Amino acid sequence: MSALGTPLRRLEGRDKVTGSARYAFEHTPEGCVHAWPVQSTVAFGRVESIDVDAVLAMPGVIDVITADDAEHLNDADDGELLVMQSRNVAYRGQVVALVVAESLETAREAAGALRVEYLTGEVGPDVVLTGDHPKLYAPETVNAGFATDTAVGDIDQALAEADVVVDRTYTTPALFNNPMEPHASVVTWADGRLDVVESSQGTTSTVQILAKLFDIPVDDIVVRAEHVGGGFGSKGSPRPNVVLAVMAARRVGRPVKIAYTRQMMFSIAGYRTPTVSRMRLAATRDGRLLGISHDAFSQTSTIEEFTEQTAEAVRHMYAAPHRSTTHRVAALDVPTPRWMRAPGECPGMYAVESSIDELAHELSIDPVELRVLNEPASDPETGKPFSSRHLVDCLRRGAEAFGWDGRARTPGTRREGGRWLVGTGMASSLYPAMTAPSSACATAHRDGSYRVEINATDIGTGARTVLAQIAADALGTVVDRIDIRIGSSVHPLGAIAGGSSGTASWGWAVTKACRSLTEKLASGTEIPHDGLVADADTTDDVEAMDDVDRHAYGAQFVEVRVDLDSGEIAISRMLGVFAAGRILNGRTARSQFIGGMTMGVSMALHEQGVMDARHGDYANHDLATYHVAASADIPPIEVEWLDEQDSHLNPVGGKGIGEIGIVGAAAAVANAVWHATGVRVRDLPVQPDALVSRLPVR
Ligand code: MOS
Repeated sequence: MSALGTPLRRLEGRDKVTGSARYAFEHTPEGCVHAWPVQSTVAFGRVESIDVDAVLAMPGVIDVITADDAEHLNDADDGELLVMQSRNVAYRGQVVALVVAESLETAREAAGALRVEYLTGEVGPDVVLTGDHPKLYAPETVNAGFATDTAVGDIDQALAEADVVVDRTYTTPALFNNPMEPHASVVTWADGRLDVVESSQGTTSTVQILAKLFDIPVDDIVVRAEHVGGGFGSKGSPRPNVVLAVMAARRVGRPVKIAYTRQMMFSIAGYRTPTVSRMRLAATRDGRLLGISHDAFSQTSTIEEFTEQTAEAVRHMYAAPHRSTTHRVAALDVPTPRWMRAPGECPGMYAVESSIDELAHELSIDPVELRVLNEPASDPETGKPFSSRHLVDCLRRGAEAFGWDGRARTPGTRREGGRWLVGTGMASSLYPAMTAPSSACATAHRDGSYRVEINATDIGTGARTVLAQIAADALGTVVDRIDIRIGSSVHPLGAIAGGSSGTASWGWAVTKACRSLTEKLASGTEIPHDGLVADADTTDDVEAMDDVDRHAYGAQFVEVRVDLDSGEIAISRMLGVFAAGRILNGRTARSQFIGGMTMGVSMALHEQGVMDARHGDYANHDLATYHVAASADIPPIEVEWLDEQDSHLNPVGGKGIGEIGIVGAAAAVANAVWHATGVRVRDLPVQPDALVSRLPVR
């Protein structure tokens, strides 16, 4: 029986639940000391003075590093990593000093005691994004290298000639990655070699970036990330923590540990930019889209340009001859936004799928049918063929399984138990199916066991387990015979656990190495004493992939109840149906989909960075004031997937499942709240205060 497709339990599950799996901060090299960052308390200005001597006099304090004496760093294309390179302050929470001490407690106390004086100007910080902010500009490209603007046909003409036009603006707030394990690094610098244990989504890039920043040959750097407690994108590239730890270790000559507190996560870990999206749809009375336009606005910091590709998703969604997308970004006195689960697609599709729902209502056409009516035969902007696209099948299957038919035609009319308004909503999902080059090494031993090595990272998804399954499948053996080694840069180069591309990228290299090993064995090659080895690299294979449009798709259905008196919103049911290629492990895949959908519900109803413009910072900096959905907020979530075959992907056949679950989920919830109440909230999160005064009288 093939090992692929079986719902195998996580190989490291027992280690994790018994506590024997060690996360980054739990590594303690001999003589290790502790570093604690000191963060700016102003949003804009300059450090005038730091009273280093007073803190250095405290017992147990080893060193205090500031911009005046921090070592020079080379630019590695990320301004956030250039820590303490000048006295300038670009945002509140930026690191202005680093205290190194014998114990964690001393480091923390000393950091708190350090007196820092700032020079601030007369003008307050500029921290509030709006769709007409004077600093908005068109960047050269947006994230992942996508075009800033696109135009097909004549959108203005379409809007002028349409029977029905929807022109609405939707906003999403700043959202913060909150993986269970905050960022942490343990760094040893000895004999010109750097050994790093890091909570990371990909240590290959950490090696490369540290090499550049510190001018250290890549061969002298090892970065390990054996177990990682989530990342959601915030650990997709090194953050300041590891740079600070390396700086400190090189300076004090002892191993250094650093970990972010939960509060630090809200300023120096990256976050999802707030977005403003203006959607304009032009349609015929019978529901054919003539034009679709998405103008997206987001923020970046003054130290690094980061432009969320918010309007990228709509470029691939619905058939319409006239199309336009634009991105504008403003550099504000805020931390630099970064990746958060489905960057671009997630906030973008909230706007797209909300506007389609509004159009469906204007046209009195069922929202599922409106989507089906506008399903394109090829990519609607480029005309490229789809590698596979089963969005309509997801919509149809979802509608059937959810019991969509019979939905009330008029919003705000279904009541249950006297005090509950009940409604349903849905939305489409899409996420690109990407593959990045990787390498792997497979070794056959004389006892019939195999070792498979690749620098993949398991951030809690089950990557280790699935790669063992992939290897067993390619070798024609069972998983028990596979010794899978991942999570260290000593292994062959693996792509990051990001962009939902990990399994596809690593799986291809593992398959290739294992097949090559199988061929060697089949040709009668003798297994040497220390094993028969086969290496593989997929750079050329990835390069040679067909020029087609590769995306995973899905459909999300939600039922909500809204309390007539309080406006309280409770989700009673949720279903996602996805077409994401071959599903390699049903157990871990289901968790990924449910996790994404849960995060989408959290985005729809709870999560919100609240900007305090006077202090120039998000006021909520912890899990008490920034609410992330807890178990009580989440209904039983049902997930199904279609059995999708796609020959344009990779030998493993999967499209990636880490991010598609969050895409569209927030729109489905907001659409359901509208259907329950008749109140359309266009600014996330949807909360009772926006509803309560507008609800019908009991
Ligand atoms: Mo994900 S935001 O691509 O790590």
